[in-house]
Amino acid sequence: MSDQIKVVLTEDELPRQWYNLAADFTNPMPPPVDMEGNPIGPDALAPVFPMNLIEQEMCTDRWVDIPEEILGLYKIWRPTPLYRARRLEKALGTPAKIYYKNEGVSPPGSHKPNTAVAQAWYNKEFGIKRLTTETGAGQWGSALSFACELIGLECKIFMVRISFTQKPFRKMMMRVWGGDCVASPSTETEVGRKILEEMPDTPGSLGIAISEALEQAVQREDTRYALGSVMNHVMLHQTIIGLEAKAQFEKIGEYPDIVIGCAGGGSNFAGLAFPFAADKIAGKDVRIVATEPTACPTLTRAPYAYDSGDVAMMTPLLPMHTLGHTFVPAPIHAGGLRYHGMAPMVSHALREGLIEANSLEQLECYESAVLWARTEGFIPAPETSHAIAQAIREAKQAKEEGKEKVIVMNWSGHGLMDLTGYEAFFDGKLSDYSLPEELMARSLQSLEGLPKPPA
Ligand SMILES: Cc1ncc(COP(=O)(O)O)c(C=O)c1O
Repeated sequence: MSDQIKVVLTEDELPRQWYNLAADFTNPMPPPVDMEGNPIGPDALAPVFPMNLIEQEMCTDRWVDIPEEILGLYKIWRPTPLYRARRLEKALGTPAKIYYKNEGVSPPGSHKPNTAVAQAWYNKEFGIKRLTTETGAGQWGSALSFACELIGLECKIFMVRISFTQKPFRKMMMRVWGGDCVASPSTETEVGRKILEEMPDTPGSLGIAISEALEQAVQREDTRYALGSVMNHVMLHQTIIGLEAKAQFEKIGEYPDIVIGCAGGGSNFAGLAFPFAADKIAGKDVRIVATEPTACPTLTRAPYAYDSGDVAMMTPLLPMHTLGHTFVPAPIHAGGLRYHGMAPMVSHALREGLIEANSLEQLECYESAVLWARTEGFIPAPETSHAIAQAIREAKQAKEEGKEKVIVMNWSGHGLMDLTGYEAFFDGKLSDYSLPEELMARSLQSLEGLPKPPA
């Protein structure tokens, strides 16, 4: 069919295993370490995560079976359609074919439930009753609330204060799914109270919210912490996206030249990209591009170092591109891209030359998002607009070169709860912002004295 828009898989065609890129890296990733630089064992993570997820975190098997119960829950919204953005292509006058994996069709509206459902399920299996977490834009908090409600766990969410104010309906979604959401820093934890005393007007950060969630998780035996990105097991769960996409491309006899995803902690990008990275390792010619905001340029400007995942340094030290755990990003609307570190697996893939990274300004992203909504119809999340802007750049480049390139991007979520950002854009209240050198230098000071990963 020449004018086909959607490529769909049946529920029977849902992938039954996740893919683990750790099995295929040419050089293995450095391990997480303690403050002295000694590799940590599973026990160091036991107060924070259930052992079945810790095993996944350290797993180097190429394929991991998806439990039947998780597959059953995935079927609520998976397989997600692979769309062809024909109207956008026409508006751009490009010979490129632009495909997108629509992860916005899940009940919470993003890719996040792919891991939320899995993490809630493994915690329940392990006998846990309650999960704590942080959330930036609110996508992760609502995804985990949704998953906990389906699986029968309590859910406590610390939401970065700037997003708590900017996105009031996200917290209402969490409440509908039974989650208990408070603004972070909060007065409910020691770390929150201390930060509020020092910086009463702070917009908050994911690093702070993670510290609060961790503090509450380690206080109760029946409670563990769930992280929406960054960790290896999160990347693993998200690969269902790329595995489906590959099956969908196979159905139409295409293969992408360029794979694109926006990267905050790295999970939606990794989810789409890693199954294609496996092909790249095997010799396939495919470009894989991660995009991030110029306000939080982790992959494009930050050093590769050992750093903590949170401001109170409660996590082990992870080898990653990082702006320093004390980094408090500017209050841009792409709340989910405001994290100081990048997933160790994504950071390692960059070092291995498997992927490229690019940073984009806020206004270009909003312009791209509006063009998208006016051609494709769906209103993207501000985070997703960073993937869209890159796809548009690549499509324009293809036009200049007169090449019929195949582009695929991860449409990581809808922006129906993020309309205040669009309002600010239309009212001319947004401006471009690149992280100034001196601010970056100051926040990188928090890396001083920490062990260094091998060169
Ligand atoms: C819609 C959407 N896209 C992307 C991201 C970025 O996170 P990650 O890099 O882990 O996919 C978020 C995070 O909140 C999000 O909500």
